[in-house]
Amino acid sequence: MTSAQTTKPVTSEFPFTDADFAQIANVAKSEFGLNLALSKKPLVYSRLAKRLRLRKLSTFQEYLSLLSDINEDAEKTELLSALTTNVTHFFREFHHFETLNTTVLPALLTRAKNGDRIRIWSAGCSSGQEPYSLALSVLGAFPDASRYDIKILATDIDPNILDRACQASYPKSELEAIPDAMHRFLDLKSGDPNNFTIGEAARNLVSFGVLNLISDWPIKGPFDVIFCRNVTIYFDAETQRHLWTRFQNALSPSGHLFIGHSERVTGTATQAFRSIGVTSYQKNQPTVNAAGN
Ligand SMILES: C[S@@+](CC[C@H](N)C(=O)[O-])C[C@H]1O[C@@H](n2cnc3c(N)ncnc32)[C@H](O)[C@@H]1O
Repeated sequence: MTSAQTTKPVTSEFPFTDADFAQIANVAKSEFGLNLALSKKPLVYSRLAKRLRLRKLSTFQEYLSLLSDINEDAEKTELLSALTTNVTHFFREFHHFETLNTTVLPALLTRAKNGDRIRIWSAGCSSGQEPYSLALSVLGAFPDASRYDIKILATDIDPNILDRACQASYPKSELEAIPDAMHRFLDLKSGDPNNFTIGEAARNLVSFGVLNLISDWPIKGPFDVIFCRNVTIYFDAETQRHLWTRFQNALSPSGHLFIGHSERVTGTATQAFRSIGVTSYQKNQPTVNAAGN
């Protein structure tokens, strides 16, 4: 870090030097692939000051020692939650679901009827609205999907947000984002009058698991469709490039990748995909050489 990049000391409840910030940024990078520029220092302070208060600590150095304790994995998750957002909603970036319905699902459903295994992955699924939107789309196109080998894997690094996703219960204010034709797959009269729940058929299509995208992926592909939207925005350019290649390898031949509105496939993976719409990609079929190999 050059002197031109240093920031004014923050004079507030907890001392927070540029060196403290650099150490926090290192943990966030090595554990979660997060890219924290020095310009984020005030934001990081305000988000983490709450953690220091809650853990009854007086300095960021104490907080850093806590993070280095092998018994404090839960605090690392709290760090991630404090530095990222879980914002999501049903049928977010609706054009992706239109492309899914018109271009992707018809062929997948034909394959499923022929006995093929169909796998969809929502990577960075937050509180579940994305994978349940996928499940509702599958059911909308194929109401008896449960009779076939169709599964949606939904993963996130944050176990707390996954607990909420598993509950499958959402405020009724979120209903308007779900197309009316799909309301038949919801339970609108569940116990709490302010909430609705995702119906059993859609819930049964989805399984949730904790997974850090920058660590090993103990999951079984290949996937026909991957949704990884509004997650890589937190990662630095190198981590993003590496991730696109891993998604390329996790996809079946001619599988589809959908990414967030401000994200772009970069690095060598760009050659492996063709664009089929806004932030929507299809993996190129492997080329057959003259010998037919
Ligand atoms: C803004 S939400 C996006 C949710 C959904 N994909 C959407 O577009 O609506 C970002 C999610 O990425 C998760 N996340 C952040 N870093 C991650 C990592 N290294 N591995 C897996 N998930 C991560 C966060 O916990 C959060 O739930």
